[in-house]
Amino acid sequence: MTLYYPSITILLLFCLYFAAPYIGLRPPHKKKLPFSKQYVMPPSPSGHVVVGNLLQWLRARNGGTTIPWLVEQARYGEMTTLSMGTKTWVLLNTSRVVNEIFSKRAGITHERPFFPISGELVSRNKRLFLQRTSDWREGRRLLHQLIMGSESRNHARLAETASLGLLRAYVDEPRAWHTHHYRYAVAIMYKIVTNTPLQRTTAELEDLRQVTSTFLTSINSSVVEFFPQLSHLPKWLQLWRSHWEEMGTFHYNVFKHWWAGMKPLADPSAEPSFVRDAVLKSYSGTEEEAMYLTMLAIVAGSDNPRMAMNTWTMACLTYPAVMQKARVELDRVCGSDAQRLPTLDDMPRLPYMCAVVKEVLRWRPIVPLVPQHVLVEDLEFEGYRFPAGTEFLINSIPVCTHGYERPSEFWPERWLKTDARGGGIEQNLWQFAFSGGRRACVGYKLAQRELFVALSRLLYCIDYAPAGEIDDEKLNHFGSGEPFPVRATIRSPAHECLIRRERKELYGNPLM
Ligand code: HEM
Repeated sequence: MTLYYPSITILLLFCLYFAAPYIGLRPPHKKKLPFSKQYVMPPSPSGHVVVGNLLQWLRARNGGTTIPWLVEQARYGEMTTLSMGTKTWVLLNTSRVVNEIFSKRAGITHERPFFPISGELVSRNKRLFLQRTSDWREGRRLLHQLIMGSESRNHARLAETASLGLLRAYVDEPRAWHTHHYRYAVAIMYKIVTNTPLQRTTAELEDLRQVTSTFLTSINSSVVEFFPQLSHLPKWLQLWRSHWEEMGTFHYNVFKHWWAGMKPLADPSAEPSFVRDAVLKSYSGTEEEAMYLTMLAIVAGSDNPRMAMNTWTMACLTYPAVMQKARVELDRVCGSDAQRLPTLDDMPRLPYMCAVVKEVLRWRPIVPLVPQHVLVEDLEFEGYRFPAGTEFLINSIPVCTHGYERPSEFWPERWLKTDARGGGIEQNLWQFAFSGGRRACVGYKLAQRELFVALSRLLYCIDYAPAGEIDDEKLNHFGSGEPFPVRATIRSPAHECLIRRERKELYGNPLM
C-alpha cells in the first residue's frame, strides 16, 4: 500500500511531463497563434523542451543558490523571459522597467496567480498577500487606512518608545541582539494593530518568525505551483499535500494562539483598536479571515524590518569607517558625551544617517524576488507583445545594482549626490525595496521611520565587532539562532546611563 500511492503519482507526473505540450499545458507565450499575432517576448535562456526553465529554477531555489541564479538571468537584458511549466515568467531586471510595468501600468498588472501550495495549502487561501484581487481588495483597504491613515504620524512616535526597550535589551542581553531586533519590530506593529503593549515570550516570537520564514520559502518552491492543474487530482493522489497541509496547520495554530490573546479587545468596553473597530466590526470576512488579516499586518510589518536591521548589523561589521562617519554626525547633533538620544525630529539634521538607512535596503535587498504580478490583458510595450497571463516578478538584486556607481559597496554617499537613480535623501527610502503599483508595500513610510529611529540610536550607543568568521553575502535570514557571530558592547558607561535614564522616565508607558 505504501508503495502503491507513490507509484501512481510518479506515473501521473511522468504522463503529464510528456503530454503537457499536447494537452494545452503550455505557458501563455507559447500558445499557438497565427503568425501575424505571435507574441514577442524578451530574450530567454535555453530550457527544456517540456518544462522550460522550471527545473533550473527549482534546483536553485531548493539548493540554496537562488541569488546567483537570479543574478545570472539578468545578463539577457532589462527583462528576461522564463518558461516555467505552464507559466510565463518575465523577470524585471532594472528599476526603469519596474516603474514602467508595475507602477505606470498598475491597472493591468496587479493580479496574483493561483498558488496551490503557498496560497491554498499553506495559507488556506486566507493570506491577503497571495490572494486574487477580488478577495484582496477589502483587506488591503483596511490595512491602508491603518498604516497610512491619519494615525500614521503617531506610529512613528511609537518607534521612539519601542526603541528604548530595544536599547535596554542590548544592555541586558547583548548576545541575543538579533532577537531584540524582531521584538522591536513586532512591538510596534502589535501596538498599532491592538492598541495594547506586546507581552509575549521569546518562544512565542520565535514561533511567529518561523511561520513567516517557512511561508516565504514555500512560495514557488514546488513543481505543483507551476502546474496548478495538479491540485485537481483526487486528494489521495496528491502525495505532496500532507507535507504542506502540516505546515499550514502549524501556521494556523500559531495565529490562533496569538489571536486568542487578542479576544478581549473585541469587548465594546475595550479601548478603541484596529482589531475592535475595523476588523471585527466592519470587515465582511469570517472571524478566521479576520485573524489572518490581523496576523498578516503584524508579521508583514515585522519580519522585513527585522531582516533590514540584521543587514545593517552586517554593514557595521564590514564597513566600520562608514559607520564611524555616521556616528560623528550623530555626535555632532546629540553630543559626544551621551547627552541625548537621536529622535525623528533630528532627521533633517542627520542626512548621512538617512543615507545609511536607504543604503541598507539597496545593498542587500530584503525581498530578492518579489512574487508574481499577473498581466490581465495583452500588452504592447517597447516592441514586445506580452500575452494576458504573463507573470512579472522583480529581480531585486540586478535592480539594485544596475546603473549604480560602485554597486557592490555599502556606500551611503551615493544618496547625497543628486544624479544617483532614486537619489537624494529627501526621497527618504530606496523605493524599489517596496515594489510598485497597487500591491506595493503599505508600510514603506513606517519602515523608513522605524529603521531610522532604531539604527541611529543603536549606532549612537552600541559598538559592533565580528565574533567569528563572517561573509557579508551570507545573512542567514531564515535560519534559527544567531544569523552570524557578533559581539555587541555598550559604547561607554555614559551611554549606558543615558539608556537607563531614558528607559526609567518611560516607566509605566503603555508600550513598554
Ligand atoms: C524593510 C521594511 C520592508 C520591506 C523591504 C518591505 C517590502 C515589501 C514588499 C517587496 C512587498 C511585496 C509587494 C508586491 O508584491 O508587489 C511587501 C508587501 C507588504 N508589506 Fe512590506 N516591507 C517592509 C516593511 C513593512 C511594514 C513596516 C509594514 C507594516 C504594515 C509592511 C506591510 C506590508 C503588507 C501588508 C504587504 C502586503 C501588501 C499586499 O499584498 O497588498 N511592510 N512589503
